[in-house]
Amino acid sequence: MSIEVSKIVQAVEPSATLAMSAKAKELVAAGHKVYNLSVGEPDFKTPQHIIDAAVEAMNAGHTHYTPATGILPLKEAIVADFQTRFGLTYKPTQCVVSNGAKHALHNAFFATLNPGDEAILPAPCWVSYAELIKLTGATPKIVATTQETGFKLTPDAFRAAITPKTRMLLLCNPSNPTGSCYTKEELEALADVAVENDLFVIADEIYERLVYGDATFTSFPTVRDGLQDRVIVINGVSKTYAMTGWRIGWLLAPDNVAKKVASLQSQETSNPCSISQYAALAGITGDQAPVEAMKAEFAKRREYVTQRIADIPGLSAPAMDGAFYAFMNIQNFLGRKYGGVQVDTDKDWCLELLQQKKVATVFGSAFFAEGYARASFAASMETLENAFDAIADFVK
Ligand SMILES: Cc1ncc(COP(=O)(O)O)c(C=O)c1O
Repeated sequence: MSIEVSKIVQAVEPSATLAMSAKAKELVAAGHKVYNLSVGEPDFKTPQHIIDAAVEAMNAGHTHYTPATGILPLKEAIVADFQTRFGLTYKPTQCVVSNGAKHALHNAFFATLNPGDEAILPAPCWVSYAELIKLTGATPKIVATTQETGFKLTPDAFRAAITPKTRMLLLCNPSNPTGSCYTKEELEALADVAVENDLFVIADEIYERLVYGDATFTSFPTVRDGLQDRVIVINGVSKTYAMTGWRIGWLLAPDNVAKKVASLQSQETSNPCSISQYAALAGITGDQAPVEAMKAEFAKRREYVTQRIADIPGLSAPAMDGAFYAFMNIQNFLGRKYGGVQVDTDKDWCLELLQQKKVATVFGSAFFAEGYARASFAASMETLENAFDAIADFVK
């Protein structure tokens, strides 16, 4: 007998970013040197004081269940940090700590969306949103943005996408995969459309500490009075503290939502890893110098990548104001042969770049934007130099 999988999971696609990383790893295992720009995680070690806090937590016996929504000192630290940096007050009970921001997003979607609801996703957008929304029975409504507007959702495009079934807007700021960062005024205009149409907003702010140059980050619920009641903020330690493997993320939500997310999580997974919670607490309350050092290194690489892209005729990318991705427009390089292989789509282009030049990127169509390739600069300068030499050679 074969077990038939459910209709809901049949509709779920595997993560394209993880798939490209897996392909790159296969080539490495076969003995090739691969320049991996497909990854979505800092290439730095978790700061030592965070690792030490985890060891201390284990030695102190913090190796058992914790409250399902996380330990109180961590939730207090999260809301205090938000208050200090953005001036908005949340109670610790409005914070639910989960197994990574991805899990927090899953909880947020599950706690708020009903089958038949529509959720607006400005594209290009991160691979997991649409799949996680589909799991609730709601429909992701992909709304294309353009390179000309820096891949930002405009109030007009937002308004035009709203139907009687629309309940929610997902806003990723700064954006994976485009690196765009909304100004305060742009967020205010989007907030006004959300309020006019009685929608709620899930603001994924996981890259908020990684903003460069003249760009400044503004947390979405702060832009209008009373907005906090219709916003769920998502954040975590993965990107800020180079802690992707520790699996700690959280949401900040209105009381009624946080309460139901707490019930949901208590049934789903119990608590996030106790040791990781103590490590995250050390990250948030401890020395922030390592965060600034990582950011400075990302800023250097960003300048380098910006220059390399500008130097390749026909290649372009929007300004990388935040996160650690270059979203390269490769439309001029499609519809031709590479090493005898016809390449018509961004997926083919990325696969051939990996196969022929051993550079791993992620195709734009995985993010609902055909004709682009995402290159992560969470990679060493040496990797970036070799990778961009190879890309220049590939498209020549
Ligand atoms: C936009 C965005 N949100 C959420 C996440 C998930 O983060 P975590 O590793 O904490 O689950 C990622 C990770 O790639 C991301 O890029």
